[in-house]
Amino acid sequence: MTRVVIPGTFDPITSGHLDIITRAAQIFDEVIVGVAASRAKHPLFDLEKRTEFVKQATQSLPNVQAKAFDGLLVDFVQEVEATVVVKGLRAITDFEYEFQQSALNGQLNNKIETMFIMSPPQYMFLSSSIVREIASLHGDFSEFVPSCVEEALLREFEGK
Ligand code: PNS
Repeated sequence: MTRVVIPGTFDPITSGHLDIITRAAQIFDEVIVGVAASRAKHPLFDLEKRTEFVKQATQSLPNVQAKAFDGLLVDFVQEVEATVVVKGLRAITDFEYEFQQSALNGQLNNKIETMFIMSPPQYMFLSSSIVREIASLHGDFSEFVPSCVEEALLREFEGK
């Protein structure tokens, strides 16, 4: 039985994240989406809301759970008794950062393996920050996010 963690800030979860989570759920037995506190990033949505959006967006996937964590990823992976970290890889610009993270996580705990799932072309350049920017400028971002997030972003930037 392979239990994997897909970590991220998910501020908010996008269709690109959902694509990676759905594909991981078809490959691995259990997928835990680890929603990081990421305080230094000053997220738009608090940890509870971000975790709730992931829960709602993945409710049709029976082997996927969402859990918040506030600490080192390697400690969270150990706590939930997973062995593998799965991340999505978009454009080439992701590579250096992800390579660094996977190398450091491997040094912090050499029992944890990191695996990557390539983003499909339609989500290659999609990010939570781009979605937040389009929403703040009142553009149409509906195809980039699950409906619960669309509603929350519309509320967030209403009248601003
Ligand atoms: O979606 P993001 O913000 O790119 O995800 C980054 C994340 C949350 C996976 C990364 O910042 C992380 O692992 N944070 C937890 C703290 C940690 O373990 N830091 C050291 C990583 S080498």
